[in-house]
Amino acid sequence: MSSTTTMTSQPPELRPRDSLVQLDLESALRLQVLTRNADLPVLPGTAVEALRLVRDPRVRTDDLLAVVELDPPLAARILAVANSSYYARGNAIRSLRQAVVRLGLHALRDVIYMAIYASTLFDAPGLIDVVRETFDHSVIVARFAQRLAPHVGIDDETAFLAGLLHDVGRARCCKVLSKLPQARGQSRDVLVPLIDRYHEAAGAALALAWNLPTEVADACEHHHAPCTPLATLIAAADAVAYALEQPPRASIEALELATQRVGLSAAEAIEIFEPLRAELSARVSALP
Ligand SMILES: [Fe+2]
Ligand SMILES: [Fe+2]
Repeated sequence: MSSTTTMTSQPPELRPRDSLVQLDLESALRLQVLTRNADLPVLPGTAVEALRLVRDPRVRTDDLLAVVELDPPLAARILAVANSSYYARGNAIRSLRQAVVRLGLHALRDVIYMAIYASTLFDAPGLIDVVRETFDHSVIVARFAQRLAPHVGIDDETAFLAGLLHDVGRARCCKVLSKLPQARGQSRDVLVPLIDRYHEAAGAALALAWNLPTEVADACEHHHAPCTPLATLIAAADAVAYALEQPPRASIEALELATQRVGLSAAEAIEIFEPLRAELSARVSALP
């Protein structure tokens, strides 16, 4: 999620006491995220192996199933995502094997990425709404980026992964803040600006810790000031996601700037993404 405050409006004015609390929280968050790399969620061994397999173009379905079946919570989450309205289209998927047959390996790979994200990062008591919003937004950006990737000569799998993870640092910041006693009971007006400010660095560190491609980590770090082709693509997908939301959260100027960088007009980009608009309003319902 790009920072809404930077797109459309200034953050709300805080009361003096809230400003002091925010300063205190900021130094704690900065320390944890930038210097101690605290709360870098560790991937379970099965997820590491599943991620390795799904990136292997020669992977055999049976090998992938054998790994995922070793981790029942992950397997359950994969089934939940596979049964979301986007993938299941009204037909219940009851087993992993059925998911493979129904979805195909390509879509299953995306489902596994989403399941690993959801099962690893939904751990921020008090801020779970922010994590959920971030996840929903990220799935939409991932799909937009995947759709747009061939137009700009980028591999669609990498585009999907970068879109899904571009704001993963927000979930990590939420996790860190949820453990700070001084954050307890604080309003979103106090906490969200801090999450906005540190999510890029927090996400890049997480992507590197998970051994994801460097370009994906770069997209996490630079999607608000893009300086690589992939980060530029993600910035465009991010802007379109915001422009298609109701009410829109990206200004038309932000949208035009972002889409021009990938060689499209704002209108062309919206035309490409319009078929996905229904999903934006329906959201992605495969979450905890
Ligand atoms: Fe974003
Ligand atoms: Fe962002």
